[in-house]
Amino acid sequence: MVTAVAQRLASQRKEIDDTLAAFALSPTQLQEVKAKMRVELERGLKKDSHPTASVKMLPTYVYRTPDGTERGKYLALDLGGTNFRVLVVKIRTGMRNSVRMYNKIYAIPLEIMQGTGEEYNMFTIIILYKLRNCISDFLDYMGMKNTRLPLGFTFSFPCNQTGIDKGDLVCWTKGFKATECEGYDVVDMLREAIKRRNEFDLDIVAIVNDTVGTMMTCAYEDPKCQIGLIAGTGSNVCYMEEMKNIEFVEGDEGQMCVNTEWGGFGANDNIEDIRTRYDREVDGGSLNPGKQRFEKMTSGMYLGEIVRRILIDLTKHGLLFRGRITERLKTKGIFETKFLSQIESDRLALLQVRSILQHLGLDSTCDDSIIVKEVCGAVSRRAAQLCGAGMAAVVDKIRENRGLDNLEITVGVDGTLYKLHPHFSTILKDTVRELAPNCKVDFILSEDGSGKGAALITAVIDKYLYAMRFSDETLRDIMARFRREMENGLGRDTNPTATVKMLPTFVRSIPDGSEKGDFIALDLGGSNFRILRVKVSHEKKQTVQMESQIYETPEDIIHGSGSRLFDHVAECLGDFMEKQKIKDKKLPIGFTFSFPCAHTKLDEAVLLTWTKRFKASGVEGMDVVKLLNKAIKKRGDYDADIMAVVNDTVGTMMTCGFDDQRCEVGIIIGTGTNACYMEELRHIDLVEGDEGRMCINTEWGAFGDDGTLEDIRTEFDREIDRGSPNPGKQLFEKMVSGMYMGELVRLILVKMAKEGLLFEGRITPELLTKGKIETKHVSAIEKSKEGLTKAEEILTRLGVEPSEDDCIAVQHVCAIVSFRSANLIAATLGAILTRLKDNKNTPRLRTTVGIDGSLYKMHPQYARRLHKTVRRLVPESDVRFLLSESGSGKGAAMVTAWASRLQNAFMHRV
Ligand code: G6P
Ligand code: G6P
Ligand code: BGC
Ligand code: BGC
Repeated sequence: MVTAVAQRLASQRKEIDDTLAAFALSPTQLQEVKAKMRVELERGLKKDSHPTASVKMLPTYVYRTPDGTERGKYLALDLGGTNFRVLVVKIRTGMRNSVRMYNKIYAIPLEIMQGTGEEYNMFTIIILYKLRNCISDFLDYMGMKNTRLPLGFTFSFPCNQTGIDKGDLVCWTKGFKATECEGYDVVDMLREAIKRRNEFDLDIVAIVNDTVGTMMTCAYEDPKCQIGLIAGTGSNVCYMEEMKNIEFVEGDEGQMCVNTEWGGFGANDNIEDIRTRYDREVDGGSLNPGKQRFEKMTSGMYLGEIVRRILIDLTKHGLLFRGRITERLKTKGIFETKFLSQIESDRLALLQVRSILQHLGLDSTCDDSIIVKEVCGAVSRRAAQLCGAGMAAVVDKIRENRGLDNLEITVGVDGTLYKLHPHFSTILKDTVRELAPNCKVDFILSEDGSGKGAALITAVIDKYLYAMRFSDETLRDIMARFRREMENGLGRDTNPTATVKMLPTFVRSIPDGSEKGDFIALDLGGSNFRILRVKVSHEKKQTVQMESQIYETPEDIIHGSGSRLFDHVAECLGDFMEKQKIKDKKLPIGFTFSFPCAHTKLDEAVLLTWTKRFKASGVEGMDVVKLLNKAIKKRGDYDADIMAVVNDTVGTMMTCGFDDQRCEVGIIIGTGTNACYMEELRHIDLVEGDEGRMCINTEWGAFGDDGTLEDIRTEFDREIDRGSPNPGKQLFEKMVSGMYMGELVRLILVKMAKEGLLFEGRITPELLTKGKIETKHVSAIEKSKEGLTKAEEILTRLGVEPSEDDCIAVQHVCAIVSFRSANLIAATLGAILTRLKDNKNTPRLRTTVGIDGSLYKMHPQYARRLHKTVRRLVPESDVRFLLSESGSGKGAAMVTAWASRLQNAFMHRV
């Protein structure tokens, strides 16, 4: 009797052992798995075998892990794991450990995950009904609606990426199966769906697999982290591979993170020897039969299912649950990984295991509990060992890549299986240690999910550009700083050391309509040297007739001696008078001289310093009227009477003032930048008198020369300054004006290319040549319709063979740089406007700003951005922006008319 029972028990035991034996992998088998995985890793990387490889080895366009200097505020979406999350990630000071995250989890209903999508594809559904609401809800909750943050998108499925923000979904895995998505670009779908609602705007910068996000999250803490592992609902690994080994991606320099998609391992039947009947059953019953075979043996979504199938089998054989197969046991999915983890916990007594089973509706005895625990153990152990074998292949590959005998490396890990299961991580680590004895592998758990990593990737890309985006708060701060600079420049005691010189111009009013006469205007200092004849007549109404000619000013003259420069000007003037047949006349001349000059009267102008391209010797500190007169006298073929020297800003204000009497500000956004405005005389300490107003030439280009703007200057601004003819000077001008903008863009592109973020890391000699990108190119690239074609043309000329993504990225860079310029000018102009408003002591300022300059005129978006920001920064104003159609020469003539009238009146009196 006893022996019969013992025999029965023994035979039952044997049956159970036999069933579970298939899950026990010998060291040799594990070695084989490692070797096969290694082969598949190589096949996935090779051009020829890549298309048919079971381990896809997808490029991610992530070229490096974070270095701790990233900062900014980013939005992240995290879709594809157990939870769908929306996050804001704030990386504060550019130091490690300074990340703050705010997130919310939203449930994704099954019908969306597996939507047959009669009407919409999954993205449309999610975006329209869910994602849109979630993001919008989240932004509301964060008080961040209307802020257009860069977004990183963790999307935990295999995507064929052709750029960091482009990824065609290869196939759904895990529990997702929505139609009309496979083969399409996920980022495009997301963008499209958001656009359709037109409610908010997202700037999707990167699409990131969860393994990559996890690696980046962990690498932020530990620079040795170069592998990302997910052991969760799904199973996958990414790691930093040498570019030269990734045959189907161009470029040989540096590294790129490869998303192995090892879940697909086994698709070519090479692990059939270790797959069991249960694995095949689970595969057959899954949403994607035949696919993700390795994942189905190793990940959380399937382990419970394998266990359930074994339990059914054992029950059938009368080995469990008293041989009764209940409806409950037949229910797919009852055995979730979290139960597996609980059952296997060493801390649980058998009774507690039993109660879990009972809770699952499985009426079990204590013996049953023991067997169930054993089954769970066999299945999860195999999963951990297989992951370990796979990981051993990866670390050995990295070790060999680097030609090392021993490798020390860190794996960043995430996923519910790894985190919740009591033994998974230990077995995994043991296996790696046994199979890759030459590698010391540390595992660190990603505490924050992969959303943080996605944000970090976004930050890596955005790093250089981040510092160029300003909040309104920062702009208001800059506005206040400039207000202080203006006050310093105006004050008697503070003026000598002020950087913003606030130069009196001796122009006392804008044209009043009574000006008349025949004048010559010289216009030197912008992109063109021009001479004009301006006739202002007064028959019925005031009319102006102008004729003008442009003269060359060759580089050697600009950089030669001052006397040569003025000889050249005098020669051109002679030529012009000759052509106009007025050489015998002595017409009054107005001289627009677009450089900072100190005046004590209208017709005396001492050049303080050259700016922009000019650098002729012996002129700084001299009166340019005297220099020009001397040059004219030396010729002796004509006579001239220079009556007024005006800055181009003043000329512009006067030109515009001719059409609009309210004009009291003149600004130039061209080769250089500057502004003038009408100030109350009583506030100008350096000029006597209290009544009325005088135009002040601010010379705002020098703002920041004393270090006031160091916090917002970037490494590129510093490089521009170093390479300029006037280092340390005109620092504000160098951040905003046309002479430098193209070069700024070029420097950023070089840096990004060097980091592998552009042009697949290719850098050509042309790209490295100073001046090869001009501001007019920036304007062309930012055109809304043909901008991308222009970008391609321009970049192709630089020899870089840009991809479409490159062109988009370059357009983005241009926009950031030109936007910064418009924003900064809005801040300084805002300061002038608020000062005018205070001077007038009025609750609302109504005024006109006269503007000129090639950047303002030629750039497709600049004017609109500037106007918009000014209105936001100075809400209590109604500002009309008036473009000076005819340059500042006309304005110079107006000043001259006024000056000659004054002179005549004076002569009359004498
Ligand atoms: C992290 C990521 C998810 C990822 C998950 C895997 O938390 O943020 O995007 O898919 O790990 O874990 P799970 O177990 O949820 O699949
Ligand atoms: C006007 C003036 C020039 C001035 C220029 C600035 O056209 O007549 O004297 O310097 O604007 O623009 P630019 O883009 O040529 O520097
Ligand atoms: C997906 C991977 C993902 C993994 C972990 C797999 O099913 O194919 O892209 O990394 O699950 O979430
Ligand atoms: C000069 C200003 C001028 C501005 C615009 C600056 O470099 O210093 O005097 O108004 O360029 O041309």
